[in-house]
Amino acid sequence: MRKVLVTGGSGFIGSNFIRWLLKHRSLEVENLDNFTYAGNRANLKDLEANPRYHLTEGDVADPKKAALALKDCGAVVHFAAETHVDRSIVDSSSFLRTNVLGTHVLLEAAKAAGVEKFVHISTDEVYGSLEQGAADESFPLHPNSPYSASKAGADHLVSAYGITHRLPAVILRASNNYGPYQFPEKFLPLMITNALEGIPLPIYGDGRYVREWLFVEDFCEAVGLALEKGVPGEIYNVGSGEHQVNLEVAGMILRALGKPQDLLQHVTDRPGHDRRYALRSDKIRALGWSPAHQFPEGLQATMEWYRQNERWWRPLKARAWLPPNLPARA
Ligand code: DAU
Repeated sequence: MRKVLVTGGSGFIGSNFIRWLLKHRSLEVENLDNFTYAGNRANLKDLEANPRYHLTEGDVADPKKAALALKDCGAVVHFAAETHVDRSIVDSSSFLRTNVLGTHVLLEAAKAAGVEKFVHISTDEVYGSLEQGAADESFPLHPNSPYSASKAGADHLVSAYGITHRLPAVILRASNNYGPYQFPEKFLPLMITNALEGIPLPIYGDGRYVREWLFVEDFCEAVGLALEKGVPGEIYNVGSGEHQVNLEVAGMILRALGKPQDLLQHVTDRPGHDRRYALRSDKIRALGWSPAHQFPEGLQATMEWYRQNERWWRPLKARAWLPPNLPARA
């Protein structure tokens, strides 16, 4: 295989993965991206002159574009998705279109092209909220938000194409990624950039929600491994095992950036807010993966990246989704 199609390659995880792939493998990359609010040309600006990097601008749900982008590609890594839970609560139509229909269009194109591997990127949110314990890959799906329901629908379609059409598909269900280039409406970059700006950090509800934080570079390693060694038909959870409470993470960020704790501001909770996610990731570990970064170190590196890249995030904040009851920006 000479070339890989990466969908949503100008988003947060997609752009990190393309950079990782070009650095660690000798493959060529075709990026299919529609440049919605989350897809950002600035994320891969430094790669535009790289002869191994190619771009097809278009919608993954457009069959012609999907087929065009797949030309000469031996494999697909499918990141393209609408991903922000809060946006899916306000209007879920784009989530169904991109996450379900877009995945279907891509599966059809991949089937017609006869790809060697189809890696579908999914989420721990499909298992729903876990008060205790951790979900392995056979755990029942219980999505609670329109976003996670759309991802669960896509997962089922991918599995069905594997069984019915023998498409060599692998599903990765990741926990909360964080790191450079994450759109500043997601929790960690929002907390970091608000702290840098000295404006309130909006904490939903009591703030005692738990997420499993995974440094994006570690996830890229897992995606690379799945591309090469993932067994068709299998699902792999990818979690760091590092669980953190939102309120404590926000407190850590304020302390590290020398800002007062009274910037923490409790706001109305997200409807249907999942209390806790937790994954059992033994299967991907058995394939040879383990995370190289621990949360305190990854968080420090991420804060430093946002401190040094204000020119990247400043214009994006104007487009970020904001909780409705947050005081207006000055
Ligand atoms: O778990 C994997 C998932 O992680 C991905 O599939 C999603 O695409 C990604 O958005 C993320 O979902 P979360 O809902 O966990 O991430 P988010 O950054 O929106 O929120 C993380 C936690 O922080 C959650 O408990 C809600 C809370 N939160 C979030 C925002 C944006 C706040 O307290 N205040 C905020 O302003």
